[in-house]
Amino acid sequence: MRILSIFGTRPEAIKMAPVVKELQKHSSLIESVVCTTGQHRQMLDQVLSLFEIEPQIDLNLMESNQTLDYLTARAMEGLTKVIIDIKPDIILVQGDTTTAMIASLAGFYQKIAIGHVEAGLRTYNKYSPFPEEINRRLISALATYNFAPTKTAVNALLAEGFKENNIFLTGNTVIDALLLTVKKKCKLDFDFLGSGRKLILVTAHRRENFGKPFLEMCTALKKIAERNDDVDIVYPVHLNPNVRIAVDQILPNTERIHLVEPMEYRKFVHLMNRSYIILTDSGGIQEEAPALGKPVLVMRNDTERPEAVEYGTAKLVGTEMQTIVNETETLLNDENEYTKMSNAVNPFGNGDAAEKIVKVILAKS
Ligand code: UD1
Ligand code: UDP
Repeated sequence: MRILSIFGTRPEAIKMAPVVKELQKHSSLIESVVCTTGQHRQMLDQVLSLFEIEPQIDLNLMESNQTLDYLTARAMEGLTKVIIDIKPDIILVQGDTTTAMIASLAGFYQKIAIGHVEAGLRTYNKYSPFPEEINRRLISALATYNFAPTKTAVNALLAEGFKENNIFLTGNTVIDALLLTVKKKCKLDFDFLGSGRKLILVTAHRRENFGKPFLEMCTALKKIAERNDDVDIVYPVHLNPNVRIAVDQILPNTERIHLVEPMEYRKFVHLMNRSYIILTDSGGIQEEAPALGKPVLVMRNDTERPEAVEYGTAKLVGTEMQTIVNETETLLNDENEYTKMSNAVNPFGNGDAAEKIVKVILAKS
């Protein structure tokens, strides 16, 4: 049986790495082929080298400041050729990126079964996150095997009329990757870590936040640093130029704000583990931080990952400047609030999601 795993961005690579490794363990039954679109370049390569994955095919598509339509068209053309050439029995995609959506559509056109890792996440808000909410709904329509990370995701798919026997509750492979990575030793060479100050870790990159919301978020970070001399803010800045416009306008040369390049996953995980609070609009970090017992303030108005909010480890704070400042300072100054949010909970799986996914695939062979 030939399985073609297709991914293109940092989070897809992190979440597909455990699956690729698990597929490789069954090489007598499964021929595993990895294709990356190269939708991301540097941020993808960091993950590939950490997990020692060498894709057989790399379409190397990324261009600076690429638009959705242009990337979509090029991915469709490139992936169709790959799929026709490889003739897989199943194509695996992950999440809700352009790569995942186009790989699913290209596979469907060739009548190849699609397995969707992290199926069933929903906000039911078409434009938030944009374009991911619609990408993942399209993938659900195209997929044969839906690997849902949580009960909530399973229920969403059932409510939309997808057949129960094509939905598999597996947990999220991000927990597999996290547990593997947190075990590995890692040296963090930041001077400020020895200062005794509280570490706030920040990431942000959502398209719907470009422009004013990003400026508000950055202004909030500046205020937090200026008003609280007992914190350090570390912000690995996403390489998307639209993110950098806002960051470069507001944050350079602010005392105790450390702007750094995207961090290698292992370092980032260890830094999460050292942090006091995490501020983010990222999807994956909403899953990782609760597992590490770190309070997450989610700078978005809605989330497709309600579980961490329900468990109390994550809170939606939107993108308005004053709310972000107030919510962060509450956590910094109110020990009860902090303790309530810092319980380690893990609604996203036990670290065996990849094993469960591959078991389903093996049963189909
Ligand atoms: C993409 C995904 C988003 C995912 C995010 C993870 C889509 C539509 N968006 O958003 O769902 O949450 O990745 O980070 O699929 N860039 C680099 N080097 C890199 C990566 C990006 O320079 O390694 C720059 C390039 O200028 C590129 C731009 O960022 O054109 C945007 O990359 P793109 O993948 O289109 O969008 P993201 O915002 O990264
Ligand atoms: N991450 C990383 N280095 C960083 C920032 C994030 O390795 O500097 C990891 C993070 O731990 C998580 C993933 O990247 O697993 C999240 O990716 P991103 O926020 O780009 O995308 P999203 O999850 O929102 O799709």
